[in-house]
Amino acid sequence: MSRVAEGATGFAPALIRWQRHSGRHGLPWQGTRDPYRVWLSEIMLQQTQVSTVLGYYDRFLQRFPNVHSLAAAPADDVMALWSGLGYYSRARNLHRCAQAVVSEHGGVFPSSAEALETLPGIGASTAAAIAAFCHGERISIVDGNVRRVLSRLLAFDGDQSQTAPQRALWDMAQALLPTEPTAADMVAYTQGLMDLGASICSRTRPGCERCPVQSLCLAHLAGTVERYPVKTRKLLRRHESWWLLIWRCASPDGQKVWLERRPARGIWAGLYCTPVFSGEALASESPRLAGLVVHELSPIVHSLTHRELRLHPLLVDVPSDRAMNSHADGQWVLLDRLEQVGLPTPLRSLLPQLPG
Ligand code: ADE
Repeated sequence: MSRVAEGATGFAPALIRWQRHSGRHGLPWQGTRDPYRVWLSEIMLQQTQVSTVLGYYDRFLQRFPNVHSLAAAPADDVMALWSGLGYYSRARNLHRCAQAVVSEHGGVFPSSAEALETLPGIGASTAAAIAAFCHGERISIVDGNVRRVLSRLLAFDGDQSQTAPQRALWDMAQALLPTEPTAADMVAYTQGLMDLGASICSRTRPGCERCPVQSLCLAHLAGTVERYPVKTRKLLRRHESWWLLIWRCASPDGQKVWLERRPARGIWAGLYCTPVFSGEALASESPRLAGLVVHELSPIVHSLTHRELRLHPLLVDVPSDRAMNSHADGQWVLLDRLEQVGLPTPLRSLLPQLPG
């Protein structure tokens, strides 16, 4: 902990000063202390860039201006608005969390990070961000960006793919907090950690020459910045091929495609998708294909956290819009009404652009 004590004196004041002067200001979730708005932004910003979140955030708030409207909404409406942001368990947990806030907390988010963390989808770092931004709680966020910033600052070489060194870094993060912060200090400090990680202290080619805490950074002083954070376990992506059978038919209202709701667990859980097959032979065994022409479209590569999917779309025009299966949760959806259902990201680009 001695390293923390050495750096601790100057780190927080320098970060706060820099954030006030040069950090990000004017993002739509920054001008508020409303926990609903802050919570929504923090969930959207997990794994998704600010520029992508901006449009979704406004649309979401227009449709669900408060926790009550979100809690009362059908799950499909929430998924449809989330469609394209990815990591759909976030949307399912968002809905569950809103329902828990209404049913268990009278519609008011708890104020402490400790209590926030008991809610669905709110992990320790998100709980800390909400408590610090809305209530000035003296608690540190530690997400992926912050791990990078702090492990460099402290030249901490504990393996961040292991629990005990993660915990140790969290303790150091707590020791680095400003000593007697006002609520406004905690807002600037928390945002400063995020801003530094997102801009200057980037994973590759960090801009140390512009860094407000360069003189305190042990990795910089040792010339070893790019060694941190230490992570021994690298993410392995399994490769898989999926065949997507796109049934299409004409109707007086326009063209429709057949979409089925995905199972509640696994990839794209709860979203609407074309029937999926793990092999081309399986797809072409479908009894309804007899006598129909199958157009093979160009494959699409789609990366998920743990998998790389190679998607092979097969387009088949059918003469009538009778149900294409008897068991799954399926329906014909007009191509110009696709925004009403939650679709996986690659289908959002593929379906509106099907050939003739
Ligand atoms: N990433 C996570 N939370 C954020 C926030 N409040 N502002 C900008 N980027 C973020």
